[in-house]
Amino acid sequence: MLAKTLEINKKKKRISNSKKFSIISYGCQMNVSDSEVVASILEQIGYSHTNEMHDSDLILLNTCSIREKAELTVRKKLESINAIKKNNKNLKVGVLGCMAERLKEKFLIEEKIVDLVVGPDAYRDLPNLLKEVEFGNDAVNVLLSKEETYADINPNRFNTNGINAFVSITRGCDNMCTFCIVPFTRGRERSRDPKTILNEINTLVKSGYKEVTLLGQNVDSYLWYGGGLKKDFTKATEIQRKTSVNFAMLLKIVAKSFPKTRIRFTTSNPQDIDTEVLETMANYDNICNHIHLPVQSGSDHILKKMNRKHTVKEYRKLIKKIKKILPDCGISQDMITGFPNETDDDHLDTLKLMDYVKYDFGFMFKYSERPGTLAAKKFDDNVPEDIKQRRLSEIIDLQLKHSYQNLLKYRGKTVSVLIEKESKKSANHWCGRNPQNLMVVFPKNNLKLGEYAKVKVIDNTSTTLIGDFYYD
Ligand code: 5AD
Ligand code: SF4
Repeated sequence: MLAKTLEINKKKKRISNSKKFSIISYGCQMNVSDSEVVASILEQIGYSHTNEMHDSDLILLNTCSIREKAELTVRKKLESINAIKKNNKNLKVGVLGCMAERLKEKFLIEEKIVDLVVGPDAYRDLPNLLKEVEFGNDAVNVLLSKEETYADINPNRFNTNGINAFVSITRGCDNMCTFCIVPFTRGRERSRDPKTILNEINTLVKSGYKEVTLLGQNVDSYLWYGGGLKKDFTKATEIQRKTSVNFAMLLKIVAKSFPKTRIRFTTSNPQDIDTEVLETMANYDNICNHIHLPVQSGSDHILKKMNRKHTVKEYRKLIKKIKKILPDCGISQDMITGFPNETDDDHLDTLKLMDYVKYDFGFMFKYSERPGTLAAKKFDDNVPEDIKQRRLSEIIDLQLKHSYQNLLKYRGKTVSVLIEKESKKSANHWCGRNPQNLMVVFPKNNLKLGEYAKVKVIDNTSTTLIGDFYYD
């Protein structure tokens, strides 16, 4: 009895002694997923998570470099954290993720605004780096790896709703689109051992999760052959080739192993998504019919300068194939306006392609020159800001029109929705998504979070389906 009491006291002491960390993720879902890996590594060395920055001993910013604006947002946050630091001298601040490599010297040495800088492949080194910080040393590790996939780490899903989870299946990217900084900040493309992916999903399903999104910069290029480094597949043995697992196979195994779990994936690249993937989607009801298929531009001349690996004609052919195999598939886009030398004619080609595809939704950006990329080295950022802005407004307006028209078609139909959260606008309404990844808001009635609802669509905006219950 006494031993037990002592043990409980010891445990209590450990908990009360434990340091607290908070972590803020910027940018893509990959960063959200990485922050969960970081949380798991920190909890193993006694840290506990808090959402309160003011209550933290360690604040980490998981940063994004994709556009200049993303970096400016992080800088602003660092300024506000430094104000907190003035009242709490023991507070440590770290920069993680994509900005780490580019700005390590600036943050640590020139400006001395952070104590710790860790790149996306170096999170296992956090325990050592934190010791360095305690000794008063600068702590930095921005080495990129050809193997690291954090395959064995069970992410700590702090801030989860217990319903949806991301599962990372690839890291890095070999595509070298000329505008993109990701290949430099996240390194070579590598896939994760499928066994570890299945283990992670199994743990999620057992804990009650209902939907899993397989995540990577380029999921359709997933390839495991005993190793995962994409560029070394050419060196694989005959047996390794024969037993290799591609994305369609992985998708099939996941869908079959977890038939009651909704499966999503993102992001797809037009040159890599193949018929086998589309047919797998058609064959398994639990794989959601939505493809996020960035195209960036509707002009061949610009696609070539962007080093995108397909033409507009090939992209149109792919869209036709998707619509044939998966007639009710949601399709979304990423688009960039004002890439160097983009003319009004190129822009009109983009609008034309959008008119052809009629995407359900999209993410549209002005070109932002990123230091070190091929586009920054080779091309002048020569489209004036006001023209970039005008073109951006035009594609956003067209997208909103298409979205509204597409959503209008759902009126009167019944959709299946996984209930994910309360509506932001009304405590009496739930919010969730249908398989096509469209937001649906509808009255709560007696339904609960995590349940599926059959919802009759009675109205829509260009971003949301408004529903009622389905009364048979
Ligand atoms: N400028 C503007 N948008 C960019 N993206 C990537 N790099 C840039 C850049 N330099 C966009 C692309 C990509 C999405 C994730 O971010 O559309 O698909
Ligand atoms: Fe960047 Fe292109 Fe890779 Fe996407 S596919 S991460 S845009 S390099």
